[in-house]
Amino acid sequence: MEFSEELKTLKDQVRFDGSFRTGTFSNIVIAGMGGSGIAGRIFSEMYSAKPVFVCDDYHIPEFVDGNTEFIAVSYSGNTEETLSAAEEAIKKGAKVHAITSGGRLSEMGVDTIKIPGGLQPRSAVGYLTMPIINTFIRPKHEDIEEAAGLLSDLDKNNTVQENIATEIYAGRRIPVIYGSTPYRSVAYRWKTQFNENAKILAYSNYFSELNHNDTMPLRDTYRKDEFYFMAFDSTDERIRKRIEVTQKITGTSFKKIEARGSSLIARIFYLIHFGDYVTYHLARIRNVDPQDVSAIEDLKKRIS
Ligand code: F6R
Repeated sequence: MEFSEELKTLKDQVRFDGSFRTGTFSNIVIAGMGGSGIAGRIFSEMYSAKPVFVCDDYHIPEFVDGNTEFIAVSYSGNTEETLSAAEEAIKKGAKVHAITSGGRLSEMGVDTIKIPGGLQPRSAVGYLTMPIINTFIRPKHEDIEEAAGLLSDLDKNNTVQENIATEIYAGRRIPVIYGSTPYRSVAYRWKTQFNENAKILAYSNYFSELNHNDTMPLRDTYRKDEFYFMAFDSTDERIRKRIEVTQKITGTSFKKIEARGSSLIARIFYLIHFGDYVTYHLARIRNVDPQDVSAIEDLKKRIS
């Protein structure tokens, strides 16, 4: 499937209704790397009823026990770190679940939701995230439909996103994406999409934390035209003020990226897809294959 066609499957992915059955639990641990790991990061900003730990490592935290709902997320089902974390969770007696399209993870004998294969993991963000959201948040049907509608609109018209890609390319700039709660992980997702789709380095950070670090180099060190600064708009007045004051005192101007939709799930997936299209167009303009992840695959082979 062409990459542009992969992107267009997201509107149907958010309608994926898989979910896990859970009992009583005291915490949630979600393990996964890269395009699969983003599922846990996104969920962790949507849910705060119980502690959520996002694990992107070989090892799981010490607190994991029989009261932990542990979800291993790996599109291929063969990612070394995720398999290692899942094995440790099984040993510690956690309630282990998996989201995968196959591979070794699907053969571990844990409670598994099998998702369709044939996509790049990063293009399967809906399939990878929705089972977690469905299990613990149970979104309303109308919110899912709102998200699907907005994604469909983006599929039909992504000229704004193409223009941003053109500006980044024209100035050979490094994208800097600034998010804020509840879109911190979306900012990171954009960074990783620039990396994997467009094959360029990118940087992400989030308000208000970045005011305690990035603010210094922003003001003092770099030429502004070396970067393409983007900031997700916020509904929190304090964050909006920070965005304005940061621009003023550092002499930097941020391209404001606005979420659409009234439900959180719609706004999050809209922003994700916005970044999908910017990075897809940048890949096209740069004449690189957005699907190519051969260096990542090569690395996985050499260390296995
Ligand atoms: C490739 C991609 C990677 C993978 C990561 C983990 O599209 O997005 O970041 O997601 O290497 O592999 P999986 O997702 O198979 O566990």
